[in-house]
Amino acid sequence: MLLYERLAESLRVQIAQGVLRAGERMPSIRQLAHGHGISAATAVQACLQLEREGLVVARPRSGYFVRAATPLPPAIRPPRRRVPGSVSNPALQDVLDMLARSDLLPLHSATPAPALLPQPALAAALTRSLRHSSAAALDYAPPQGHLALRQQIAKRYAQVGAAVAPDEIIITAGAMEAISLALRTLTAPGDVVLVETPTYHGILQAVAALRLKVLEVPNLPGQGIDVARLEQLLQQNTVRAAVLIPNFNNPLGSLTSDANKQSLLESCAKHGTVVIEDDIYGELAWSGQRPSPLRRWDRHGMVISCGSFSKTLAPGLRVGWLAGSAWTDALVRAKYFSTVGSASLPQLAMADYLQRHDLERHLRRLRRTLADNAQRMHEAIARHWPQGTRASEPQGGLSLWLQLPAGGNGYALFEEALKDGIGTSPGVLFSSRGDYADCLRLSCGLPWSGRLDIALRKLGRLAARQSE
Ligand SMILES: Cc1ncc(COP(=O)(O)O)c(C=O)c1O
Repeated sequence: MLLYERLAESLRVQIAQGVLRAGERMPSIRQLAHGHGISAATAVQACLQLEREGLVVARPRSGYFVRAATPLPPAIRPPRRRVPGSVSNPALQDVLDMLARSDLLPLHSATPAPALLPQPALAAALTRSLRHSSAAALDYAPPQGHLALRQQIAKRYAQVGAAVAPDEIIITAGAMEAISLALRTLTAPGDVVLVETPTYHGILQAVAALRLKVLEVPNLPGQGIDVARLEQLLQQNTVRAAVLIPNFNNPLGSLTSDANKQSLLESCAKHGTVVIEDDIYGELAWSGQRPSPLRRWDRHGMVISCGSFSKTLAPGLRVGWLAGSAWTDALVRAKYFSTVGSASLPQLAMADYLQRHDLERHLRRLRRTLADNAQRMHEAIARHWPQGTRASEPQGGLSLWLQLPAGGNGYALFEEALKDGIGTSPGVLFSSRGDYADCLRLSCGLPWSGRLDIALRKLGRLAARQSE
């Protein structure tokens, strides 16, 4: 047996016997090398072997930890809505009003904390744009948006094999406005649109505001969009548009496979359903392997692709976009009568940032931090939440989705947590009729801290009280 194998075996035994406990930090490389009279390289080799086996996890700058038992994934359940109907969910208004407090620990907000954003570089880009392009920065932007930024966005599409011309891109105030403009352009009141369940509550609000009817297709934990059910729904109903989040759905974080993406595109094309793709989390694959947007396989010109810098660079600058396909002219007109054009300065600053900086370098760090946060949150949940709590195992994005054990109520937990200054998103927000009453969503965009650990313990205690 090689030296590193001998050490790995000894550590394996210690983990199995509970000498090294789940969630506990492993001895440092230096301690292992010293204690076993081997080189640091050999000790590293042993730890890498245990990491490959899934027994330990590496945390940047903190060393190796024994992997905690992971909670089971949320249960799959059939959607309650079987025929098209209106969005009827009072929580959409009530909860969002209650969360409009600036003093909360923002576990409800699916955004990276400000500390994770490239603040100095963005500040410099804003200052430079104002100083060197003050006339443009202070004037109206073209309704379609500044060309320099549209070119940068087109370049990123090209990097993932999707052909999108700068002329097809329209700059919007975040992905939210992009989705609203697309829906407004494609539909008339009473039309049926398909959304995922669970899905991002902003999509449900946009659908409700336009007085559209919804059908819901399940997004399955760990699998993504249920394409067989999607085909069935399209066969049975006339559906004008489908608003889908194939890359790291909010709130589940699940990824739809490439094969299923192509299959759902074929279904939609066959039935004349336009796809509004919300690819806001595509850049946040924790593995670093950026999944393709649907747009890459759009052979029929049926996909309007929406994106945003809210989850990667700065939600407050409100810079998102649409790739409008055949609807580009109509969408530019809709953008004009909506806001004339998006604010000039943030667009110029984003273009400046993208020209001068390596976005990929920032994203690599951000993705690693998010994956690490999620891992620690999983461990805290396994340790401090009542037995039977289930948690999604996202592969990217910014959210963890939890299902409470029998007797648990996400809304009651949300209300109790607010009293302790902790924001959460109750599960009822994520469907058209307030399903998922026993679920809640937490953000993994907050860097790990003592405050976060205490908050997760508190939430665990509140959850335990519900199931007593
Ligand atoms: C799936 C999804 N789409 C759209 C948005 C809205 O993003 P933006 O800030 O770019 O408007 C969010 C924000 O949470 C989201 O999670």
